[in-house]
Amino acid sequence: MKGGLTRRVLLASGLLAAIIGTTFAGLLSTVEDLREIEARERRSERVLILANRLERLIVDMETGQRGFLLTGSEEFLQPWQAAQDAFPEHAATLERLVVGNPVQEARAQQISQAGTSYLRDYSIPLIDTARRDRASVATLPATVEGKRRVDAMRADFDQLLAAEEELTLARQRSSDTANLRAIIAAAAGLIGSVLLVALFATYLVRRVVRPVRRTSAMAGQLAAGDLSARVPDRGVGEIAVLQRSFNTMASALENGRRELAASRARIVAAGDHARRRIERDLHDGTQQRLVSLLLQVRAAEAVAPADAPQLKSQLVEVAWGLTGALDELRELSRGIHPAILSEGGLGPALKSLARRAAVPVELNVNVPTRLPEPVEVAAYFAVSEALTNAAKHAQASVVWVDAKASPESLRVAVRDDGVGGAEAGPGGGLIGLVDRVQALGGTISVTSPAGRGTTLVFDLPLNDR
Ligand SMILES: Nc1ncnc2c1ncn2[C@@H]1O[C@H](COP(=O)(O)OP(=O)(O)OP(=O)(O)O)[C@@H](O)[C@H]1O
Ligand SMILES: [Mg+2]
Repeated sequence: MKGGLTRRVLLASGLLAAIIGTTFAGLLSTVEDLREIEARERRSERVLILANRLERLIVDMETGQRGFLLTGSEEFLQPWQAAQDAFPEHAATLERLVVGNPVQEARAQQISQAGTSYLRDYSIPLIDTARRDRASVATLPATVEGKRRVDAMRADFDQLLAAEEELTLARQRSSDTANLRAIIAAAAGLIGSVLLVALFATYLVRRVVRPVRRTSAMAGQLAAGDLSARVPDRGVGEIAVLQRSFNTMASALENGRRELAASRARIVAAGDHARRRIERDLHDGTQQRLVSLLLQVRAAEAVAPADAPQLKSQLVEVAWGLTGALDELRELSRGIHPAILSEGGLGPALKSLARRAAVPVELNVNVPTRLPEPVEVAAYFAVSEALTNAAKHAQASVVWVDAKASPESLRVAVRDDGVGGAEAGPGGGLIGLVDRVQALGGTISVTSPAGRGTTLVFDLPLNDR
């Protein structure tokens, strides 16, 4: 799936909204159905009540009529009259209530017509006649006719009531179904929403949170100096862009550092090379010339006439001067580049340094083989600077020098028991030493608490970087 985070978030939100929306729409429609069912239910109840009342009215009329016919007492006609008055309105209401159901409509009409006919064509004429002449009304056949009509109407009532009850039952069933549907829809919506939210949360954690966390951990590693740190760019959208940018940045930093280290190493190597050349020129040129001049002066001194003591003593003086100049030149060359280092390696060179130091040195060298030249030169000048500092600043009574080579690196520690307080500053020997060690990819530390001596430790890698 292509696209940025925004699109994915919008898509997931849209899906969630659709699920919730559909669920609510379903619930609303069910509520509407239930309201409709309830309204019909109420109408059915009224139909049942009305039908029962109408039936009772008919029975009342029939009973009153029969009582009057039997006794002639007008008293019986009071409920008959009341029923007669109430019947048309009740019948009309019943007909209205069943509108919409053709079968029940027909039954209601049938009841209404039968009732009206019962009154108009049978009961009222019968009562009128009886009022005029009660004896003329043959009581038995008249009541038989009434009973027949009432029974017919009762059958209609029974059918209407039974049908209405059946309808009520059917509605009850569909109401149950609607309820069940609503519960299922709500449950499905709820489960769907929870699932979607859980899925989306998992997705966010795996594709956004974790990659961001990994990237921030990588940023921490970079900040701590580990420029080889990289993140797998498995994020999505903007996260992948972020990760790629971080990796590109880390590569650029790493390349930059590598190039810088290489150029520092080249600069140091060029300096060392120049010093070695100067030392050789001094040794092979000036020094040889001075030696041959000294030999010539010694020869002249040997053949000088005995009667010229002044000349002889002048030649001796010149020879002494030349010897002193030669010693100074040797000392100078050693400072530029010690020949003993090129010839004998680090062990003998450090021994010669220790011998010439102005403070007593306890030397412990464990370097069985020759090391790469830049490493030997760096170690030699570092120890030389540390010994000079100890003599110059530390007021130390002793200096310990330990050098130990492993297959991977050379570790050298120089410790004095002096006043402490050493600090690398611009232009000083210590900062030049730090530069030299770092140019070779090494590490160096200077620990120098006041009054507790100074310890300088450096590691130089022996393998090609
Ligand atoms: N072993 C030591 N004990 C006490 N103080 C020291 C020691 N080494 C260095 N220092 C202090 O740290 C300062 C910096 O030393 P650094 O070697 O960089 O310069 P420097 O010795 O003064 O000058 P340069 O090395 O150029 O002759 C010194 O000036 C000195 O005060
Ligand atoms: Mg110094």
